[in-house]
Amino acid sequence: MLLPRLGPSLGPGLRRFLHTVKPHAVDSEINPASLSSDLSLVDTYRSHPCFNLSSLVESKLGKNLHLLSGHPIHTVSYLIQKYFKTAHLERMRQALSADESINKADICVKCFDRLSPIVTKFQNFDNLLFPLDHISRNPTDTYYLDDTHMLRCHTTAHQSQIIPTLSHRELALIVGDVYRRDTIDHCHYPVFHQLDAVRLFDQRPDMSDDGYIVQDLKEALDGMIRYLFSDSVKIRWVDAYFPFTHPSFEMEIFVNGNWLEILGCGVIHPLILSQTGCKYRRGWAFGIGLERITMSLFNIPDIRLFWSEDPRFKSQFVPEKVTPFKPFSNQPSCFKDISFWIHDSYQSNDLFEIIRQETNEMAEAVTLIDTFRHPVTQRESHCYRIHYRSMHSTLTNEQVDELQNNLRQQIVEKLKVELR
Ligand code: PHE
Repeated sequence: MLLPRLGPSLGPGLRRFLHTVKPHAVDSEINPASLSSDLSLVDTYRSHPCFNLSSLVESKLGKNLHLLSGHPIHTVSYLIQKYFKTAHLERMRQALSADESINKADICVKCFDRLSPIVTKFQNFDNLLFPLDHISRNPTDTYYLDDTHMLRCHTTAHQSQIIPTLSHRELALIVGDVYRRDTIDHCHYPVFHQLDAVRLFDQRPDMSDDGYIVQDLKEALDGMIRYLFSDSVKIRWVDAYFPFTHPSFEMEIFVNGNWLEILGCGVIHPLILSQTGCKYRRGWAFGIGLERITMSLFNIPDIRLFWSEDPRFKSQFVPEKVTPFKPFSNQPSCFKDISFWIHDSYQSNDLFEIIRQETNEMAEAVTLIDTFRHPVTQRESHCYRIHYRSMHSTLTNEQVDELQNNLRQQIVEKLKVELR
């Protein structure tokens, strides 16, 4: 299902610009209070009734895979940054009319890759015009530290703080870890990485509609994906909805027989620009999930592998190069089913969190295989199939039985459900 490796190539025209790239901006320039060091503050929130971080999620805070040279997530983040600092920068320079008297060398790409994942609800939702009843505000979907602080569920959470710092010569990239409570399968994990970008334009009298912004956005993203995959990759655009962009789109690429949704983007909502003091500017933004494209580019079959400490995983990659993943363990999977009567406050994301935690992440996938409503009592039961597979060693039958038995107990205790 995954793409064979298609190495990105840099043409000579692009190489010329590598040396003109400005160094990374220091993140403290925009928000000194929001550096990764404040992760130690997690303890101060622990007793708050809204605190819902699992110990698994806590253990990932500060790991910053996107900053670890040689890690595939770092490599893909690096390549996207390189694309924007070379090919895209050149496009931005060429687009300036001859009479614009700014110094073209001042045009630069700013990268913010050390912003703390602890943000306020205001940054993550309100600032971005999320309606109050939007599903992702729900504690079943999001990790909260208290009633105002949370783990960002997208890197777009920093958009409003960054917009006012941008001159019209700058493009901002924001890279970091994001957190969402979610299902268990080979491509979902409660922590993953995103790269967001923001580009602003000065509003000019000849730019009466958004057409030029959409065109610039699509050209930039088309170029980025061809740079990462190959010139021949099939791309399609699908209309989408995000509260903070309009119009909005998703890009899908055709990989191994399937259309894969890989990024969301659109024209920044004018209200966001006026809220941030940039009323007379327009702009585009996009956000891309790094795990999904990294899995395609490197042929990595399971998202859990990104967190592996196994030297057989970590030592096989070369910094900043896309190389095909060589599987080092081909353990068979086995499954066990579990059925229980649910109640009104039952939420499947709570179940998934317990399964991840209690099986030491041996659960590769969990699927709801049956639901049943008792004709007399009207009680509803769910039956889930848990697929077990270790990424590193063989799981014996006894080990799987032990995991499953423990899980049964924990589910009853923590979810207050009744086993069937
Ligand atoms: N934040 C969106 C997501 O996580 C992606 C996005 C970013 C869409 C910027 C539009 C603009 O899906």
